[in-house]
Order: sequence, then structure tokens, then C-alpha cells
Amino acid sequence: MKGLILAGGKGSRLYPITYTNAKQLVPVANKPVLFRVIEAVRDAGIDAIGVVVGMDDNARQVREAVGDGSRWGVSISYIPQEAPLGLAHAVKISRDFLGDERFVMFLGDNVIQGGISDLIRRFETSAWDAQVVLTAVHQPQQYGVAELNEDGSIRRLVEKPREPRSNLALVGIYMFSQPVFEAVNSIRPSWRNELEITDAIQWLVDHDYRVQPYIHRGWWIDTGKAIDMLEANNRVLDEISHEVKGYADRDSQVNGKVTIEKGAEIINSVIRGPAIIGENTRIINSYVGPFTSIYHHCVIENSEIEHSIVLENCRIIDIPVRIEDSLIGRNVTITRSPIKPKAHKLVLGDNSQVGIL
Ligand code: DAU
Repeated sequence: MKGLILAGGKGSRLYPITYTNAKQLVPVANKPVLFRVIEAVRDAGIDAIGVVVGMDDNARQVREAVGDGSRWGVSISYIPQEAPLGLAHAVKISRDFLGDERFVMFLGDNVIQGGISDLIRRFETSAWDAQVVLTAVHQPQQYGVAELNEDGSIRRLVEKPREPRSNLALVGIYMFSQPVFEAVNSIRPSWRNELEITDAIQWLVDHDYRVQPYIHRGWWIDTGKAIDMLEANNRVLDEISHEVKGYADRDSQVNGKVTIEKGAEIINSVIRGPAIIGENTRIINSYVGPFTSIYHHCVIENSEIEHSIVLENCRIIDIPVRIEDSLIGRNVTITRSPIKPKAHKLVLGDNSQVGIL
């Protein structure tokens, strides 16, 4: 089997982070979501992976970060997509790479508990033409939604229905064999002008191909928005191990499950897990609370932060009020200004959101 990972798209729901950062490269527990996806596919025994990328700067970033895949022991081919014309369009343009093999398609911004090895095994040993993963969600209208027959087979799939007929969403993991190519060539663009994979799968159902549903019972998160990113961070941090590779001085307390990466220093601070402190980051006279990921080369000094994600090279210094529920992009400085008049002095990118006490 081959793997197809989708890492194109605009990521507009994660602005402003994604103006300068491909959304699939935003880290959850200090590892980009896309790396987690590659590892899940590799762990399922697949070593030939196609990565669909756009043709913009985000694509360059993805290529630079992922490389040829040798770091994971897989071979990665890039498939450029001229514009985000839909998940089924991505399948269409990947025809040459996929050849005649069955394949798994995994959306590069999804995080799932437990990996996909069992799913791949089920599909590999079956005669099914496709397998889709479903899970119960609270707001089905935000997803592709499946309606099942009484025997558990699929009756109907609808992309982001206004009035969902069930609470079962399509998780961004799909397994296909050859008939999917006829399906993606037969469907028309949707109201959002995309070739929807949901419509392609419905085409398979309508033409009596065997589409097998699998109900996923663990957690699954589509990291589309900042709040989802924080939720994914919570879930993954909950499963990390306690590991101290960096240094914590005697005046510091490191409680609960905490990973302190190589070269990190904790000086006179409290770290309360689950939390992760990235390589060469320094935490000085500060508090880092549960469900916080601080990426590499940051400085947190005389400040308090919890339930947040901080990307690389940030400086958070002398902030008297605790920072919570925040997603902070790369190279950000948050500090007190000694310059009069006393005021908030902000330089924020487009679409930033700041909550001030
Ligand atoms: O996350 C699950 C949902 O993913 C499913 O329930 C929906 O049925 C499915 O259509 C999809 O919906 P989204 O609207 O969330 O998809 P999104 O546009 O966010 O794209 C998902 C990933 O695929 C993202 O990493 C960007 C990438 N992508 C997207 C498009 C439209 C591409 O690489 N090329 C594309 O043309």
C-alpha cells in the first residue's frame, strides 16, 4: 500500500499563525502535526508516501521541514497542487504516484489516538473497495457526515450538511483502491467549488462498490482552529512520558508528567505537567502550568503561563498576569514596556486576537 498525505490548503481558520507558517507544521506537544501523520503512516508499515503541497511559500516550508523522508525511514514524493481545489482533486493529481496500488489518504492536519495500523491491516486483508473512518462529534455540520443503514453499512454521505442526519463525522483518514479514480473523475465541484472526497465516496456507494465504515472510539482532532490546536495539545500531552533530558536546578519543582528536552534549563521555576519544554528553552523565575507546550529556543522569565502553545524563539518576560488558553506564533516577544506613557503597545499581524485584562 502507498500513503497520500494532504498538506496543501490555506489554513485560513488559523490566521495569523498560518500567514507565515504552513498549518500542518504547527507543533502539538512540540512536534508538527504533519510529522505525527507521517509517523502514523510509517508505523502502519507504509514506506512510499506522497505529500500533496500547494505552490506557495507554505509548500517550500513543508518540503524543507520534511525533506526526502529518510529521517523516518520512508520515501517521500511531493505532488504539487495548483490551488486547493478539493480533497478529491488531490487524489486526481496523485494518480501517477499512486499507480495501481491501494492507498491510505490522511489529512495532514488531523491527529488521531492510537495510530492507524489496525485500520490498514483490516483494509489490506479485505476485498473492500474503500474504508472510511467515522466518529461521533458534537457539531456534525462542520464535517462530512455519514448516515448508516440498520446493518451498519453506509446509506449516504454529505459534506457539511446544514441539517445533519447523524452525529457521525468522516475522520480525515480514507482507504481506497482503483475505483476511486473513476469516482473523482465523475463528480462535479461542490457549492464551495471543491471536488469533495465525500461526493467521490458517495459515488462509490451509488455504484455498488464496497465501502466499509469503521467507527473510531478514541479521540480525534481536526486541528483547523486555534481552539482545536489547544485541544489536540491537551490530548497528546496527556499521553507523554516524564523525561528530563535538560537541566532543572534545585530551586525548581518539576511535578507530574513533564518532558524537558535537550539543552533546556529550568531555573527557580515551577513546571506542573503535563507539559513539555523544548530544546534550549530557558524558564527562569516562572510558572509553566498543565497542558502547555513551549517549543525550542524560547525564554520565559518572571512570568506565568498555562494551557498554551508557544512556538519557537519566543520571549515572554516580566508579564505579571498569567497567560492562558493562548497560541503564540514564532519569534514573538511579550514584555513590559518601561517607556511612558503607561499603555499597551502592540504590534500585531492581521487577524490577531488579543484578550487584555
Ligand atoms: O477533518 C475531517 C474533514 O476534512 C472531513 O470531515 C470532511 O469531510 C473533509 O471534507 C475535510 O473537511 P475540511 O473542510 O476540514 O478540509 P480542509 O479544507 O481543512 O482540508 C483538509 C486538509 O487537506 C488540510 O491539511 C489541507 C489539505 N488540502 C485541502 C484541500 C481542500 C489539500 O492539500 N488540498 C486541497 O485542495
